[in-house]
Amino acid sequence: MTTTRGIILAGGTGSRLFPVTVGVSKQLLPVYNKPMIYFPLSTLMLAGIRDILIITTPEDQGQFRRVLGDGSQWGLSFSYVVQPRPEGLAQAFVLGRDFLQGGPAALILGDNLFYGHGLQERVSRAAAQRSGATIFAYEVADPSAYGVVTIGPDGRPTEIVEKPSEPKSPWAVTGFYLFDEKVCDIAARVTPSPRGELEIVSVIDAYLKAGTLNVEFLGRGFAWLDTGTHDALLEASEFVRTIEHRQRNRIACIEEIAFRAGYIDREGLIRAAQPLSKTDYGRHLLRIAAESA
Ligand code: DAU
Repeated sequence: MTTTRGIILAGGTGSRLFPVTVGVSKQLLPVYNKPMIYFPLSTLMLAGIRDILIITTPEDQGQFRRVLGDGSQWGLSFSYVVQPRPEGLAQAFVLGRDFLQGGPAALILGDNLFYGHGLQERVSRAAAQRSGATIFAYEVADPSAYGVVTIGPDGRPTEIVEKPSEPKSPWAVTGFYLFDEKVCDIAARVTPSPRGELEIVSVIDAYLKAGTLNVEFLGRGFAWLDTGTHDALLEASEFVRTIEHRQRNRIACIEEIAFRAGYIDREGLIRAAQPLSKTDYGRHLLRIAAESA
């Protein structure tokens, strides 16, 4: 059986966060105590995905490699490819075609943060599905900033629109998508939208029209955080800080997830924790290693 491979799309200009992102990629900015990309990476790991392609701008690839390496330190495998220009999210499947080797794919946007009880079960179940596509919908106050999916009386999706000025539903399409092996062929047929981008909603719409789009609703037990503006970025940091101060749990702790999934052993965990030992993050990892001795 072909396993699902993952793509993290971490390019783009970051222009909504200028001047902060003039010199550094948005997806490497801190969300409290970790680089932003740790969060989508952790979501892929929770879905059981270990083979991951990281798409960046040509200028930023070196920094991503410095932060993430080849993934082997966490029992993962990272490949890298550049996106010369930000021509749209669906381009991930043009650039990622060879990497996907004709198999199913998970795409996550490098600036999307998910957190909540039962997330692992929800995302791993969706990733195990072998046909059609799955998107995750989240009820938001202002859907017009997102892709929006409309749901019919039978609970099935009826329409998907990118940033509608008058949204017909409160359900925003989040930046985590699962597709079967048809996705590259579908993406190859997508043409630029009026704003000049290869839209991911066009890919999703093809599955909707074929009757093979599954919508998973993330309810009030989940947080889906945006990092698109200066305020949203600060609020995401505050959210992570609040949870991590109050609970013993950590959010998007890559080494811990890798250890608990059996991707690295106790020695590997300690090795990964050592350079971080001056931080609460590192001490958390060493505590886990000590407790498992
Ligand atoms: O966050 C969820 C939303 O993401 C969805 O609801 C929308 O349907 C989807 O279009 C997208 O909307 P955004 O307005 O957030 O897209 P944005 O252009 O900001 O791109 C999202 C991320 O992907 C961002 O971190 C930059 C990166 N990106 C974007 C484009 C267009 C790339 O790496 N390459 C690109 O070509």
